[in-house]
Amino acid sequence: MKIDLLQLVEYGGCSSKISPKQLEEILKYLPLPKDPNILVDIDTHDDAGVYRVNDELALVLTTDFFPPVCSDPYEFGQIAAANSISDVYAMGGDPVLALNIMMFPAAKLPMEAFAEILKGGYDKATEAGVRIIGGHTIDDFPPKYGLAVVGYIHPGKIITNAGAKPGDYLILTKPVGTGIIMAGQRLGLASDTDVNEAKKQMKLLNKSGAEVMKKYNIKGATDITGFGLAGHALKMAQASKVSIKINMEKVPLIGNVYNLIDDGCIPGASFRNLEFVEEHLMAADDLDYNLKMLAFDAQTSGGLLMSVSAGIVDKVLTDLHAAGLTSAASIGEVTELHEKFLTL
Ligand code: CO
Ligand code: CO
Ligand code: CO
Repeated sequence: MKIDLLQLVEYGGCSSKISPKQLEEILKYLPLPKDPNILVDIDTHDDAGVYRVNDELALVLTTDFFPPVCSDPYEFGQIAAANSISDVYAMGGDPVLALNIMMFPAAKLPMEAFAEILKGGYDKATEAGVRIIGGHTIDDFPPKYGLAVVGYIHPGKIITNAGAKPGDYLILTKPVGTGIIMAGQRLGLASDTDVNEAKKQMKLLNKSGAEVMKKYNIKGATDITGFGLAGHALKMAQASKVSIKINMEKVPLIGNVYNLIDDGCIPGASFRNLEFVEEHLMAADDLDYNLKMLAFDAQTSGGLLMSVSAGIVDKVLTDLHAAGLTSAASIGEVTELHEKFLTL
C-alpha cells in the first residue's frame, strides 16, 4: 500500500505552528530562569537556547516537530530532521546529539510508515554527523515527527538573531515558497518539478551555509521557518534593535511559485504571519501582491538569513554558490532603527 501522509493533515510542516502573535502573548507570562550561564534564552526569540558549560564550551539546545509536509514517510523524516537540526546551524553551533520525538497513530497507519519516518530522520541526522541516542513516542493522530537536538559551540562564537548591524546586507541561502508549493500539491495545482524542487530544498541541511558564516565570522543570523521570511526578519530586527529592508524582487523563489498564488494557493499560515508582522511593517505602495504573500509564506526547513558586513558580501556569496547554494542572494539591508522594524 502506498501511504500518502499529506492527505492526513490540513496544515503540515512549519505551517502548523501556533500563530506567532498568540505565542508572544503567552510567553510574556512565563518566568525566565535567571542564570549567568544562560547565554541565549527565549527573550530574543532566537533559534535555540545556549548554555555555557565552561569557558571553551556551551551547549545549543533546540526542538522542532510537526505533522507531515509531504506524502512519503521517508522524505518526511528527512525533512523534519533537517529542519530540527537547522536551528543549531543558525546559531553557529555543531550539532552532535539528538532524541526522536514521534507521535504516530498505530491503529490507523501501517507500522512500516513509522519505521520509514524514523529511517529518514536517522539518515539525515547521520549526514549531519548527529547521533540519535533515544526518543519518545505517543500514539496520536495525525502523525508528527521531529528531533530535540544538542550542539556544541564556543561561548565566544555564538551567532544570534541579535547580531545584525546597521550597514550590513542580508543574504538568504535558499529560495522561498515551500508552504505555497506544498499547499498547491494538495490541491493538485503544483507541478511535479516544483514539488520536487521544494522537497529538495527542505531536505538540504543548512550545514554548508553555516560553515561559510563561521569562516567569515558572521555575528547575526537566523533560519527561515514557520513565521516566513518577513516574520523571522522582524524577529531579527527586534532582537538587534535595527530596521531591516527586504527587496522582494531580489528574493530567490522556487520554480513557478509566483504563479501558484494567482491560482489561490495561499495557506492560512501566511495570513497569521501577516497579522503578526503588520504593525511593524512598512510596505511600498507598489509592492506586488504575490511577492508580498511570498514574504509571509511559512517555510519548512528554509534557508539561513545572515547579516553580512558590506565589505565581504561578494566573497560570502561566491563561497555559498561554490558550496552548492546556487540560489543564495543578497536580498536586503540593515539600517538604524526608524519607526518601523521592517520594510518590504
Ligand atoms: Co529557527
Ligand atoms: Co525551531
Ligand atoms: Co520517555
